[in-house]
Amino acid sequence: MMYVFFDGRTEDVTAIEAQYPLTCVEHASEIPDGELVLHIAPEGISLSSGSLEMHGDFRTMLPRVGKLSQEMLVKAVKPKNFPEGALAVDATAGMGEDSFLLAAAGFRVKLFEYNPVIAMLLADSLRRGLEDEELAEIVGRMELVPGDSIGGISNMLEPIDLIYLDPMFPERQKSGLIKKKFQLLQRLERPCDDEDALLNAAVAARPTKLIIKRPLKGPQLAGLKPGYTIQGKAIRYDCFAFPRE
Ligand SMILES: C[S@@+](CC[C@H](N)C(=O)[O-])C[C@H]1O[C@@H](n2cnc3c(N)ncnc32)[C@H](O)[C@@H]1O
Repeated sequence: MMYVFFDGRTEDVTAIEAQYPLTCVEHASEIPDGELVLHIAPEGISLSSGSLEMHGDFRTMLPRVGKLSQEMLVKAVKPKNFPEGALAVDATAGMGEDSFLLAAAGFRVKLFEYNPVIAMLLADSLRRGLEDEELAEIVGRMELVPGDSIGGISNMLEPIDLIYLDPMFPERQKSGLIKKKFQLLQRLERPCDDEDALLNAAVAARPTKLIIKRPLKGPQLAGLKPGYTIQGKAIRYDCFAFPRE
């Protein structure tokens, strides 16, 4: 059960209702302890349960924008090899942090997210980002497309320069070890239904480059051997280049 707390602001929750049993309330006192709560307030939308609380805030990404060339994702992408205003598709947007890095590197980014709760949290942080003068230019290059990217990518008419896939939340670990926001998101999670279909849709779109984030020791998606790999301590980026004919 998820509670939606309309705290001085309303929002259309039909898409969420189609996937989760919901109880909508207007007073915090109506919510039993420990329940998952989507709190819709004038200052923003957050997800919480007990002492855990999360909301998207792209301001937390600003220190990373100053050191963009040190970001593993940026090293994997090599933005200088792309034309100005190149189009990137983040087919598994989540809270949009990786998309934000791509937008900061100059890409226009379409963000697909099929979980309606995460899509609502993301839409809200994008909205706040547009109102923030330090974020507006970067966030202005980001467009959320709520829904499944497997069909979404194949319906896109514009050629795609870069496709980025990060299909899974971190493996379930002892809860104390993972970041609080992941503990909450994992309560919503519907694991990526079909990673192979996602990969096939991405390859069929013939982007110039495809990048897949994987756990460091995780198997290659669909067993596809990357052209090159960028490795960190816990994750790696498998990179595929498809030169334009
Ligand atoms: C690991 S999270 C992505 C985190 C993201 N890279 C970030 O920086 O915040 C994966 C997300 O992809 C979404 N997802 C998985 N498969 C999808 C699909 N086929 N279409 C759209 N969203 C998908 C999940 O709902 C989840 O929010």
